[in-house]
This record gives sequence, C-alpha cells and structure tokens, in this order.
Amino acid sequence: MTNNKGTYYITTPIYYPSANLHVGHTYCTVMADAMARFKRLSGYDVRFLTGTDEHGQKIQTLAESKGVTPQAYVDEVVDGIKKLWETMEISYDDFIRTTEERHISRVQKIFMKMYEKGDIYKGEYEGLYCTQCEAFWTESQLVNGNCPDCGRPVSKAKEEAYFFKLSEYSQKLLDLYEEKPEFLQPETRRNEMKAFIGQGLEDLCISRSTFDWGIPVPLDEKHVIYVWLDALTNYITALGYPDEPELYERYWPANVHLVGKEIVRFHSIIWPAMLMSADLPLPKQVLGHGWLLLGGEKVSKSKASKGTDVVDPVVLIERYGIDALKYFLLREYTFGQDGSFTNEVLLKRINFDLANDLGNLVSRTVTMIEKYCKGIVPQATTEDDIDRDLINIAIGAASKVEEEMDKFAFNMALEEIWTVVRRANKYIDEKEPWVLAKDENRKAELNTVMKNLAESLRIVSILIYPFMHSTSDKIRKQLGLWYADVVWEDSTVFHVMYEEKVKRGDALFPRLDIEKELGELTEVAAEIARKKAMKEVTDPVEKAILESVPLELKEEIVYEDFDKIDFRVGTILKAEKHPKADKLLVFQVKMGTEVRQVISGVADDFAPEEMVGRKVIVVANLKPRQLRGLESHGMLMFADNGDRCEMVTTTAPDGESVS
Ligand code: ME8
Ligand code: MG
Repeated sequence: MTNNKGTYYITTPIYYPSANLHVGHTYCTVMADAMARFKRLSGYDVRFLTGTDEHGQKIQTLAESKGVTPQAYVDEVVDGIKKLWETMEISYDDFIRTTEERHISRVQKIFMKMYEKGDIYKGEYEGLYCTQCEAFWTESQLVNGNCPDCGRPVSKAKEEAYFFKLSEYSQKLLDLYEEKPEFLQPETRRNEMKAFIGQGLEDLCISRSTFDWGIPVPLDEKHVIYVWLDALTNYITALGYPDEPELYERYWPANVHLVGKEIVRFHSIIWPAMLMSADLPLPKQVLGHGWLLLGGEKVSKSKASKGTDVVDPVVLIERYGIDALKYFLLREYTFGQDGSFTNEVLLKRINFDLANDLGNLVSRTVTMIEKYCKGIVPQATTEDDIDRDLINIAIGAASKVEEEMDKFAFNMALEEIWTVVRRANKYIDEKEPWVLAKDENRKAELNTVMKNLAESLRIVSILIYPFMHSTSDKIRKQLGLWYADVVWEDSTVFHVMYEEKVKRGDALFPRLDIEKELGELTEVAAEIARKKAMKEVTDPVEKAILESVPLELKEEIVYEDFDKIDFRVGTILKAEKHPKADKLLVFQVKMGTEVRQVISGVADDFAPEEMVGRKVIVVANLKPRQLRGLESHGMLMFADNGDRCEMVTTTAPDGESVS
C-alpha cells in the first residue's frame, strides 16, 4: 500500500457527552470510518478525527443535577463513547476532547488572533438562548416561540459579552458558496444557507458569563468562550495549530467535515468566517447527512428509547455483530436524506443481503471446492459467455464503487458490490456445478466454475473491506487468502489465485428468525424503558434526600414514653354535631367489642354523614374528659394537610392495636 495520492483529512462532529451515544451518532461515525478506510486502501495518507464537545451550559446543568462536577460527569460518558468506538473498530487517528489542555490553550490563541484582527469587541447581549442546541436566536427566528432547531423553549439572556463581527463576513461567505459550490453540498442546503445569510447576519455573541464551564476568554476571565467557537476549532487544534503545526501543515485544509444537517449552519457560516478572520484556509467541503428517525422523529439522546425499536448500538452489536450494524447503516440510508430506523428493516437487511446473498455465496463456494476439488482452488481452462459476464461484472465493480464513494453514496457503492454477489449466486444456478460434477468429461468446466467463484469472492472481499473489514478477513481465511494483503487494485484483475487451500468456517451471518427477534427486541426495548423510568423515580428521591432540612419538633421523647400510648383501629358507627359546640363532632366508635364516645374538633372539615363507616386510628387509653357537657373518651387521629384535615385511616379490622 502506498500513500501516493496525497492527504485526506476527514472529521466527524465532536459529540456532546451529555448522555450515551445512540445509533444516530454511530451512523455518522460509521460513514466517516468507511470513507477513511476506503481512502487509505485507495492510497491516500488519511487523517480521521473524532472527539467530544464537553463544555457549555447544558453539560454544567446536567452535572449539577447529578451532584457531580462537570469534569467527572463528562469523564464517565467519554469513557463509554471511547469504548463504543473501540468495540466498533472505528479507525480514528485522533480523539480530541475539548477539556484537554492542548485544545484549551490553542482555542485561546485562536481567539486572540481574531481579537487582534479587530473582529472581536465587547458589548451587551440581549436575546434568546437555547441551552439544548447551545444556540442564540432572535425573536423572529423562533417557531411558535420555541427554538427553531429542536422545538424546546428558549430563555432570555442579558449579559455583557464579547462579539465576533460575523456580519462583516456575509458577502465573503456568499462569494465562497458562489466560487466553490462544492464547499457546501447538496445545492438545497447551500440555498438554505444563502437564504439564512440573506436575512442579514448579526454579529455573533461568543462569550458567556452566567456559567463557568468553558474555556476562559483570554484577558477577561469572567467570561467563557461560547461553546460553538470552542468546538469548531477542534478541527485544527487537534492538528497542533498554532504551536505545533506539523500535522496542521500536512493535513489542513480538511477534505471533508461530515456533520448532521442540523449543524451545517455552524460549519458553513460561523466556521469559515472564523477561519477567514484568522487568515486560515477553509475546509474543502462540509457535508450534511440526514437523520435517522424513530417513529417520524429524529433519534435523539432524550428520545433514545421510545417505542419498541432499539437504538442502543451496544445492544444491537451484541445481538447481530459489528459488521451487520455497519452494513445496515451504510446500505439502508441515502446520504443527505432522512430515513426511518426500525428493528424490522435492520433484521431484513441482515437476513436478505448478508445471510442469504453473501453468506450463502461464501458457504456454497467453499463447500463445493472442498467437495469437487479436494479443497484446492483449481485453474480455469475454459471460458464462455456466462463466465465472461461474471468476470466483467466482477472486475468492473471497483471503478463503480469509487464513483459512488466520491459522491458519499455508500448505499450505491454497496449496491455495486452486491451486483457482483448476486451475479455470482446466479452463476451457480446457471452453471449447475452439481450436474457438471456427475460427468467426468466436464471436469474442466467444473474447475472453471469453481475458480471463477473463488476469484469473484476474492474481489468481493477487497471491495467490502472499507465497510466490513472483519467479514472481509473471514472470507479471505476461508478462501485460503490469509497470506495476502488486501490491495484495492487487485479487485480489478481476475485470475490471480493459484492452488489456495480453502477451509470452511462458521456461517458469516447466521439466518435470523425475524418474528422471534422482533419479539425479543420488543422485550429489550421495554426493559430499557423500564430502567429509564425507574431512574426517573429514584432520582427525585435522591434529590429529596439531598435537599432535606430537619423538621422543627416538640421536645424529644424516649421509647418508653411512646409505648404508653395505646393506638387502636376504630370504626365510626355514628357521628353527629355537638349540640352546644359548632366546631365539635360527637362520634360513637367501635373498637373490637367496645363502643365508646369520642369528641373531635373537626366539624368544619367533615359532614357527620360522610364519617359513618370509616375506619380511624384512636388513642384509646387517653383519660376521659368533659367537652361542653359531654364525655369524650379517647382521641381520633387526623393529619393537617394545610387547609383542611384528613383522617388517619387504615383497612385493618377495628380493635386491632396500631404500632
Ligand atoms: O451537535 N440521525 O453534538 P451532538 C443521524 N457537539 N445522525 C445523528 C442523529 C440522528 N438521529 N442524532 C445525532 C453536536 N446525529 C455538537 C457538534 S462539531 C464542532 C460540534 C449525529 O452530540 C449527527 O452527525 O448533538 C449530528 O450532527 C451529531 O450526531 C450531533 O451530535
Ligand atoms: Mg444535537
């Protein structure tokens, strides 16, 4: 493998470690990984960057609500994110965390560069802020009074702040889109941005002083740098800009910033304007991909476990494997467009494309070579039209894959590869090797069929490498190609194998019982939802304990004092107003075998009729006393709920003692 095609720098968004990532983040990272692997295999010197965006009000508020420091909070989530990428064998070259010292010091230097340029000034910010999106809005941009991006309420913010003269870059940005239309694709997205700028760009508030989880503004440490300014610079701070510029000089400008469509605005307006201000080259391209939807809504960290569909990548990988999930994400969705995620489409893709088409081709081919050729890949000495058709399709696929990958059309690239897979399966049906095998005179033809199948699969193993390298390895092992490196150019030539020893392995993708799987996934989803709900019930308890203040009480008593009181369950047989006192009710209360008269001052709160038949707790051994001429023997228990009292009651039989 040579790196003679130049450099290729690709990035993903740096994700907020506010909660564990879901299948939507996985989607973006899997695309970037496939592209990075594809470019490496094609001979580029690739740099693939990902990371986490750890500052901002949202993270600080979340950490506070959990009673931990923001740093402790993000450390734990980032750990999980790194583990996920490790499990998924994501081939990033660097993982940048915005809380790292290398990032912090460089962001401050870049801020100063913009400041010295005269593009940053101090003013007062008064407006609306969406904490969820960490975005500023004007009244006219709101939709139904809420954030136009996520639909959540915004809050008024008024504070002294630093501003970036974004308004002065409107024309330069429009020129950029005009002169380099490839900078922002597709055209519809470019038009959206033009329209956005057309409404008039305001200067951007780039500091906050109402919370402190951020990078301090140099020269004025009361302020922290706006989280988007902090985050966007990651693409160059991770390359060492400005103090250790070796990687920066090698890889900047980036070839592609791959981002979700909701943050294209930040990447195609704020980011290029910042770079222009700092006199730095602009990235070659910002590509916005569509969203995975769950029941019509964007899968999001807060809605990650809705309905019966499971979007936790960890669960999906455990059940179906890394390559199945990667293949599904890359094959199912059209780049740039939204698409629904359901368990059913996932399972069908796995079964039809992977278990049936690819898995069967591998197992049939290897089994037949073992059976008909003693496990040794034979040579082809014949060739007819059908053979030529298969060969042409197989060796022609690579250039089609390249073409589709140039357009980030991962689904079409895979479709081209599957054209080879399906052609090879059809080839088996057409050639009927089991018939050839019965006729000694047709041994040469049979060998040709076996050889052509092995070569086709060899080509497939190269073509799928960027997308599913483990599956590629497994196929190559079964074909006896374990000794050879995967070389992209080898997919454009046909007869290269010679007497390899094939060896059957486990099924690449076991067939799934879709109905059964769907049932189990529904249970898994319910379990996830249950855990989440449980968490929501226990959290307030923890919160209540944390906020607990001791009650103001009467003098403390000892157990012996308490033990003197005899509480009994009583049933009210009769209730009437006290003839001489408006506030008193006179009760006849039955406790086991005994009935006695008890008087309580609850006439304001209860009508006598509603008391009859009710069970009440009675202090039964209280010394009798006279109340306006009638004897009261005992006391009924009531609790004060603020504006009226409530009876302390039970369903236990009367006469029972209460302890
Ligand atoms: O926006 N479908 O971070 P974030 C597809 N920190 N992709 C999805 C998705 C879905 N339902 N949900 C999320 C931020 N994504 C900032 C970025 S960059 C300098 C700062 C993917 O955690 C998609 O790529 O909200 C989206 O842009 C990204 O995750 C947002 O992740
Ligand atoms: Mg987001």
